[in-house]
Amino acid sequence: MENTIRSLQQEILDFEIATEADLEAFRLRYTVRKGLIAALFGQLKSVDPAEKPRVGQLLNLLKQTADTKIDEAEGRLAATVNGNGKRIDMTLPGRRYFTGSEHPVQKVLGEMKQIFSAMGFGIATGPELELDEYNFDMLNFPPDHPARDMQDTFFVKSGNPGQDVLLRTHTSPVQIRVMLDNKPPMRVICPGKVYRNEAISSRSYCVFHQLEGLYIDKNVSFADLKATIYSFSKQMFGNDVKLRFRPSFFPFTEPSAEVDVTCYLCGGKGCKVCKHSGWLEIMGCGMVHPNVMRNCGIDPETWSGYAFGMGVDRTVLLRYKIDDIRLLFENDLRMLKQFTA
Ligand code: DAH
Repeated sequence: MENTIRSLQQEILDFEIATEADLEAFRLRYTVRKGLIAALFGQLKSVDPAEKPRVGQLLNLLKQTADTKIDEAEGRLAATVNGNGKRIDMTLPGRRYFTGSEHPVQKVLGEMKQIFSAMGFGIATGPELELDEYNFDMLNFPPDHPARDMQDTFFVKSGNPGQDVLLRTHTSPVQIRVMLDNKPPMRVICPGKVYRNEAISSRSYCVFHQLEGLYIDKNVSFADLKATIYSFSKQMFGNDVKLRFRPSFFPFTEPSAEVDVTCYLCGGKGCKVCKHSGWLEIMGCGMVHPNVMRNCGIDPETWSGYAFGMGVDRTVLLRYKIDDIRLLFENDLRMLKQFTA
């Protein structure tokens, strides 16, 4: 019996009470009415009377050790009580802290914004749910222009009769908002999401990103536009890029051009990405159409300006060698995790 008591004494001393559950287990094993200590007290009557006082003393000591241990544990666990009076289990592993990362589209947009900010462009934004009037009419689109076609545009039922709304198909309506809200001179870029009802594939998606530019001042010329785009392209695509301006048409600019840069993957020699042409199209641009200025109350006899609009996503895909545009919108963590700093 004496040996049992001594080994139990050691066991109790060694017992680690770190949580409420441990404490409960300790009580159940040793100190409850049907626990091990009570059982030993029960056996005391069969101990040799000569031994009884000593064994009794040892047993009392055992009981005391257990009680002290419980008191100590209760005090310790009570100290870790939170505001609601609930006990906190200090042994639980800490809550995992998830560090976010910048989305690759935001990384590239960030770079673009920085380049244009350094050239004196402010940043303007507009709503993605836009007035039909701003997305098309004010930008000098004729009423029967094919871009208005249901196939391209997501029209949205408007609550106000006579005020048609849609998901903007380009960032150009932000130009209108900027011109309506400000007096020239003005120089802004407008980054944002745009929507088109296109067949979805690895190369095109119903949402994508554009970055629009607008500069209105006195005596702004096409040469200013070229110099700005050239400076931007060198910083964005590399010092050696060459530019090519191809005459084009947009309702809101005249004259208009589309801009190609030498393919920055093959250096212009020709590869799969540039379809062996050596060139990649990066944007549309032109001189702001006098009608657009007039629509916004700006006198085209006094002021002139240029505008440009570029897609962002293709640059992202090429930069990070991503072969499917849908990956930019699905937010699959396995993809996004590859962009943690
Ligand atoms: N808004 C045009 C598009 O989505 C791009 C564009 C072309 C914007 C020429 C411009 C511009 O500002 O001048 O295709």
